[in-house]
Amino acid sequence: MHSIAALQTIIGEALIERNFPSNPDTLYKPIKYFLEIGGKRLRPVLTLLAADLFGAPVKASLPAALAVELFHNFTLIHDDIMDEAPLRRGRETIHKKWDINTAILSGDATLITAYQLLGECNPELLPALLNVFNKMAQEVCEGQQLDMDFEKLLAVSEEEYLYMIRLKTSVLLGAALEMGAIFGQVNKQDRENIYAFGVNMGIAFQLQDDILDVYGDPTKFGKQVGGDIIENKKTYLLINALQLAEGLDKQELIHWIETEDFDPQQKIGRITAIYNQLGIEKLAHQKKMNFADQAYQALEAIALPSEKKRPLIEFAESLLSRER
Ligand code: IPE
Ligand code: IPE
Ligand code: MG
Ligand code: MG
Ligand code: MG
Repeated sequence: MHSIAALQTIIGEALIERNFPSNPDTLYKPIKYFLEIGGKRLRPVLTLLAADLFGAPVKASLPAALAVELFHNFTLIHDDIMDEAPLRRGRETIHKKWDINTAILSGDATLITAYQLLGECNPELLPALLNVFNKMAQEVCEGQQLDMDFEKLLAVSEEEYLYMIRLKTSVLLGAALEMGAIFGQVNKQDRENIYAFGVNMGIAFQLQDDILDVYGDPTKFGKQVGGDIIENKKTYLLINALQLAEGLDKQELIHWIETEDFDPQQKIGRITAIYNQLGIEKLAHQKKMNFADQAYQALEAIALPSEKKRPLIEFAESLLSRER
């Protein structure tokens, strides 16, 4: 069994060794820039851990793990355009450092490279892998569209929010694990269980992301703190604040959402103050832990000795309290 850190190194090296063409460097330089900054590489780690859990050699699942990570990087490059985000992984986003057209195309080329890597997987497993991957990829697009549609709406329910984050974020964690399981040639039931572990963990992961977007330490987070507030994202925090606020607080929340011309720091400061008054951070943490519990239950349903599941549980725990 490899340690998580060892798996992250294997993934990082394999990605950087993947020789992107050098011409035109206006296309490939931004991709290399983005991949070299790194990130947590958590999704490919999930693929390798799932392969290992079900007895497949880690090496066989590596191209699928890399495909998952490249797909994730593609979504981030485009997401940063959509969210007008200036910062990612502590560095300038591609569309800021270069321009929007460059970010669109380098995102596209990253997605195509993901498919090339899938093409390197065992051909016997490829139909099953593509099934899971393509379903997930389409769902992520649906989730991203809903995320943007919700920016323009005031009344988004918690249920609608959970549906949206399941699509934009969670199914990718589920698919990463399920693809690893496919290498272990597992039965349908365990494929469903490992997918459910990933999806529930993914919802907890996005809740933590929403919390960090407001309460993260700017020296650790690597993204712009308050970005969701500026963009009127209907996060778990804002939806619950809109539900719980009364009187002047409620009016003020709606005022900030509806005002187009504002000082970003003032908007962030005032909305955060209302969150603090309403105890929203604690609510979000509780919700996150509910989904983590559901994730662990799905993992328990897999009939394997619990010590084999330890690495997955430890990894999941580290994500729940992450600071970046
Ligand atoms: C960011 O994912 C996108 C979300 C789903 C919140 P990560 O936090 O895993 O990003 P990196 O790859 O580590 O930068
Ligand atoms: C993450 O949503 C979903 C995808 C990137 C597909 P966010 O917009 O919250 O992710 P960050 O915070 O920019 O990483
Ligand atoms: Mg987004
Ligand atoms: Mg974003
Ligand atoms: Mg976010």
